Amino acid sequence: MEKKNIDWSSLGFAYVQTDMRYVSNYKNGAWDDGCLTDQANVTMSECACVLQYAQTCFEGMKAYTTQDGHIVCFRPDLNAQRMAASCRRLKMPVFPEDRFVKAVVETVRANAAWVPPYGSGASLYLRPFMFGSDAIIGVKPATEFQFRVFATPVGPYFKGGIKPLKLRICDYDRAAPRGTGHVKAGLNYAMSLYAIVDAHEQGYDENVYLDSGSRTFIEETGGANIVFIKGNTLVTPKSDTILPSITRRSLVQVAKDYLGMEVEEREVALSEIGDFTECGLCGTAAVISPVGTIVDHGKEIHYAGFGPTIQKLYDTLTGIQMGRIPAPEGWIEVIE
Ligand SMILES: Cc1ncc(COP(=O)(O)O)c(C=O)c1O
Repeated sequence: MEKKNIDWSSLGFAYVQTDMRYVSNYKNGAWDDGCLTDQANVTMSECACVLQYAQTCFEGMKAYTTQDGHIVCFRPDLNAQRMAASCRRLKMPVFPEDRFVKAVVETVRANAAWVPPYGSGASLYLRPFMFGSDAIIGVKPATEFQFRVFATPVGPYFKGGIKPLKLRICDYDRAAPRGTGHVKAGLNYAMSLYAIVDAHEQGYDENVYLDSGSRTFIEETGGANIVFIKGNTLVTPKSDTILPSITRRSLVQVAKDYLGMEVEEREVALSEIGDFTECGLCGTAAVISPVGTIVDHGKEIHYAGFGPTIQKLYDTLTGIQMGRIPAPEGWIEVIE
């Protein structure tokens, strides 16, 4: 199969329309058979529930080419599980988890020419999502829904070299206690837009959110979970209001089983973050991105950036993903 004529190494993190996407519609209490389509636009009522009341959730994952030339996807079963959890919380019908994985695989296969080659640093980002599509004017859930998966090639996160991130402790909150912080609801991201634009204007790469109940514990950033390193220990916040990152859960296992580290998943107080030597943000897009500085209202806390432990975690996880290091059972879904 001939690859698209793209300069893979110059790709950024932006939408590029690819050839095919997967669509399934829910009506009268059931999902239809679903199919691939070349239609990238969606037409719906001006009163669609997603447009009025933001009834939508999504996932983010990557397909890429391994060292031995296979196209694979990393732990798509966990994305399927998390999307099911998001749907339940948002009163949307679950798209069956096995069908979710099949839809992702079909979408990747249909766009195989868009999967960047091994070693390019680029990957095919997959965006499964669902929205309430019928007209709803009183505040209640939709009765009709659409599930879609599109694909778009994206560039390496560390473009132009490795620059440790500069974060700030954010004065806005991300998620309320007993709210929707633990699911991937579009509304969580809508409310973070003001804060991220403001952070960028002030010269920061990302916001670190605190727990909105007491504002004394570290939660996560707008688009990634956070890990800290002290000695041979990885410490990561445990909270009911953060998104359960698949990358973070994988890194915890890598730290324990591959690197022989201790792992503490617990509340992390803002007052203790100066005790750590390294800090990283983890997510699908970032894998693990080194943090250089966290600014807490004028007080600067500095970390080692790409310190030795963050580097080891990065090398081991990307080694597993790219097929250079044996993966735990079930982590790699081979597509072709
Ligand atoms: C708020 C938030 N936290 C964490 C993550 C990282 O999750 P994952 O590792 O599953 O991509 C993401 C990205 O999906 C996110 O949007």
